[in-house]
Amino acid sequence: MRMIDIIIKKRDHHELTTDEIKYFVNGYTDGSIPDYQMSALTMAILLNGMNDRETFDMAQAMLKSGDELDLSDIKGIKVDKHSTGGVGDKISIPLAPLVASCGAKNPMISGRGLGHTGGTLDKLESIPGFSVDETEEQFKDQVKEVGTAIVSASTNVAPADKKIYALRDTTGTVEAIPLIASSIMSKKLASGTDALVFDVKCGNGAFMKDKAHAEKLAKTLLAIGKQHGTKCVAVLTNMNQPLGNTVGNSLEIKESIDILKGEGPKDTTELTLNLGSHMLVLAEIAKDLDEARAMLEAHIKDGSALAKLREMIKAQGGNEKVVDDPSLLPLAKHQYDVKAPADGYVTEINTNEIGMVSVYLGGGRLKKSDKVDPGVGLIIHKHLGDQVKAGESLVTVYSNQDYDEEIAQDVLNSYQISGQPAPKEDLIYEVLQQD
Ligand code: URA
Repeated sequence: MRMIDIIIKKRDHHELTTDEIKYFVNGYTDGSIPDYQMSALTMAILLNGMNDRETFDMAQAMLKSGDELDLSDIKGIKVDKHSTGGVGDKISIPLAPLVASCGAKNPMISGRGLGHTGGTLDKLESIPGFSVDETEEQFKDQVKEVGTAIVSASTNVAPADKKIYALRDTTGTVEAIPLIASSIMSKKLASGTDALVFDVKCGNGAFMKDKAHAEKLAKTLLAIGKQHGTKCVAVLTNMNQPLGNTVGNSLEIKESIDILKGEGPKDTTELTLNLGSHMLVLAEIAKDLDEARAMLEAHIKDGSALAKLREMIKAQGGNEKVVDDPSLLPLAKHQYDVKAPADGYVTEINTNEIGMVSVYLGGGRLKKSDKVDPGVGLIIHKHLGDQVKAGESLVTVYSNQDYDEEIAQDVLNSYQISGQPAPKEDLIYEVLQQD
């Protein structure tokens, strides 16, 4: 087999065989296929697509490129959630302890920030002492004892994905459904979970900008899960504005704590309850979504979800006192407001740009080697549809530099303020089940 023939075949719109897919995944992972040939192929896949069979084969080949966790000695149905990536998306942090407090076993392998989107691991690391690196044994023991653990994938979980993703990030080939679906599924299936809830983000802050593409991605994820024997549900959700009131690592931890205290913003609380309900149903802890929601709400009200968060933080070496005293979280030295230039209504927010501002402040990485600053970020005061008065704060910037005109201008340019309100947008568009 030769890589050049595979590239030409995909360039000319033909279907690749299972063996050809295994050949390029394995060859790229072991270094025998060079970056330039793999970039040509990923671009051909982005332009010409892959059918469901090819996408499944690619996910399988990437999954088999490394270790698969065996969680069979943990009793019960293991259930996890995965978001395709957004801005201000801190949902995993309140969700994991919340479902665990209801008895679910939630082994969560999470990621770091990608492009303009934040990463759960970077957020958790803003808790003093918190470690996302656990051995397989520690991970399993924590899921057995605490009910949840949020960790980083060990270097040998889906190594093919690590290499292919890094290449896509720098070759303009991120936004391809077969590549996103195989990337996500290779990691998630390697984590040994029995069931998965996908939060497929859709809008100007997501990789999928419109509903048709988000739906196609959701269906592809569900089909791969089905073929692998993993029960999955996909929820299509709005990413046309930052989720909740905060963007940035420590700030998002504080909001996550508020959600579990019952004092969180409406949208992040609703999404946590919605996704959590699907998880409890898949885990057969609740018979239907209504029963699941009632359980989740009760565990927020009686403090057991918050207690589970303390337990999870402690188990991972973090200072659990942050739950009761969020001032223990690192916070940037300087704060300034970006104010509305005129009266009107917020009709559009360039969510991608808001995510990038947080990255520019140091909350994410522009280069792989960059160190993340846990204390920087944004508090979003005005959301889509809100009425604003000239001079009112749209956003408070938390920065470790003095006032920066460029940052303030970027934030301001992200907001469209018009005389007429735009129609309210739904937070949750639709739920897709496996056939
Ligand atoms: N998340 C992933 O894990 N992979 C992608 O390709 C995109 C989002």
